Parts: sequence; C-alpha cells; structure tokens
Amino acid sequence: MALVRVPRSWEIRENLVTAESAYLNRRHFLKTTAAIGGSLFLNGGLQAESEEAVSDRDAVQALYPPEWNPAYRVHLPMTEEAVAGRYNNFYEFTTIKEKVYEVAQSFETYPWTIELDGHCENKGRFDVDALIRQFGIEERVYRFRCVEAWAMVVPWSGFPLHKLIDFAMPTDKAQYVCMYAFFRSEEATGQKKQNWYPWPYFEGMRLDEARNELAVMATGIYGKEMPVQHGAPIRLVVPWKYGYKSIKSVVKIEFSRRQPDTFWNTLSPREYDFWSNVNPAVPHPRWSQATELMIGSGERLQTLKYNGYRKQVEHLYS
Ligand code: MTE
Repeated sequence: MALVRVPRSWEIRENLVTAESAYLNRRHFLKTTAAIGGSLFLNGGLQAESEEAVSDRDAVQALYPPEWNPAYRVHLPMTEEAVAGRYNNFYEFTTIKEKVYEVAQSFETYPWTIELDGHCENKGRFDVDALIRQFGIEERVYRFRCVEAWAMVVPWSGFPLHKLIDFAMPTDKAQYVCMYAFFRSEEATGQKKQNWYPWPYFEGMRLDEARNELAVMATGIYGKEMPVQHGAPIRLVVPWKYGYKSIKSVVKIEFSRRQPDTFWNTLSPREYDFWSNVNPAVPHPRWSQATELMIGSGERLQTLKYNGYRKQVEHLYS
C-alpha cells in the first residue's frame, strides 16, 4: 500500500478543527467499531478513514514478532523483559525509574505522525504505521549503556534510520539530524512538574552518524510493539552512545546545516557532551564510566569503548 502523507498545516484536517481528546477518542471508536464489526454503517468519508487506519494498524501488528537479524547479536545473557520494562528513564512522565511503567500506561500513542523538516526535499507529516509498513521491521539484539553506569541487553524491533533519511531526501546543506519528542504536558505530567527542563526532549547527531548501519528507529522490543515506557510508538536506538541519545517517542526529525543543541547538553554541558560516545576512559564528572551494572543479574562488567561497537563506528571519529 502506498505511503500516506498526512496533509500539511494549510490543508484541512479534522484534528486541526476538533479538540485533540475528542479526535483521539473518535479514532479509537472508529478502530474499535471497524475491528469488531467492520460493516457498521458510517458515512462514506468516515468509513474510508476507518478502513485505512485499521488496515495499517492490522498490517503493522501482524509484523510481530519480526525475524531476528543474526548480524546483530550479543554474547551476553538477555535482560529479562519485565526487568527492562520496569526500570526506565522517561522524564516526561516521572524521574522515578521504577514508576515510569505505571505512570505512562494510559498515554495514547495512536495515531502518531513524524514530521520531516529542515533541509530535506520530502517535508511533511507521515503516519508512523504507514512508514513501518513501507520499510518493514527486523529484530536486532543490542547492548544498551546508560550514562548512569547501568546496562542491559535487549532485542529491539525496527528499521534502520537510514531508510527514513533516504525517504526524507536531505539536501546538500544537511549536515546534522535533530529529533524531537512530543510535548503533551496535560498527559505526561513530568513535563509540567519538572518545568525547568527545556521540553520537548530533543537530541541530535551528525548526518553520517545517523546513517550508520547500527542506528535504528525502534518500534518494538521483545518481539512486541513498543510499550509506552520504552518510547512508543517509535524511538531512536544508537547503541554506541550513552542511552540518553536514544530519544523516545519521536514526533519530528529536522535536517540542519549547523550542529543542533541537545536536551542534556543544554542542561549541563560539562556533564553531557554532544557526541556522548560510550568511553570507559572518560569518567563522568561525578562517577567512573569504567564499569557497568547489568540490570537484573546485578553483574558488573567492564565497559567497552563505543559500547562494544568499535568496528562499526570508529571510522566516524577518526
Ligand atoms: N527519551 C525521552 N523522550 N525522554 C527521556 O527521558 N531518557 C533517555 C532515553 N530517551 C529519555 C529518552 C535515557 S537517559 C535513557 S537511559 C533511555 O532513554 C532509557 O531507555 P529505556 O527506558 O527504554 O531503557
């Protein structure tokens, strides 16, 4: 099915003329009624919309569990799903890792669009399900290393970021990529409570880093669609960098000529630099980065340069 471009701001769209909560509820109603009945009477326009939404949703759900790509494996035990899913950093909801799971559950992540903007030819807002359907997904097992010196090994589902970059068609001026997460402080109340943070969360990389084979737009984990606490419905995963670079719940990607600012670097430039490549030899100003604690097993391991992905990324920094 052809990829559907979501109309731009100057084109009439129902979510621009309807309160968002009403719009989301109506979409939920349409999906539900179509899923259970399929033949309930709706006027022509609404029916076309429901069929399209249901078919993309159904098609995407049917992609799980995706096939594992054996080129991306880790010779360490996998972190248990329940452990990884109950210990999260997602400051939009709360700064208490053990509570994110609970607090984020009711956050609605469908429908969801990603806007492509800046120095690229194919600007616009695109439905994430349609993108997933076009690009397909695979499973990759990656190490994941947080700057706080804990780590995990998890199977992500998703597609390489370079597919989305090619789709966006960056121009010659594009040197960097900046990604933004959502801003919905009524539902994600951490955005209200921690109002000294420069919301929305934003992160950036050089364009050639973003094109690296390891950079993935993850849409799922443990063979299932992404749960909210891990960054539903779509997040970045760049496993050779500290975890905070792997921005969750992305709504916009912007191509720029200049190096963009980033969330943590804006907050504390001395502690969090733009590159943030995992490096055991460079301590954080407040703690060592030489070792890492595997969540779940409690094992302490030596941290590896580029988190063990030296072969794939070292050439980017020579
Ligand atoms: N993305 C957003 N939007 N908000 C966040 O607070 N936290 C980052 C990163 N992405 C964060 C984010 C940090 S600090 C880490 S370690 C990882 O998400 C944690 O990912 P996980 O909860 O899936 O393990």
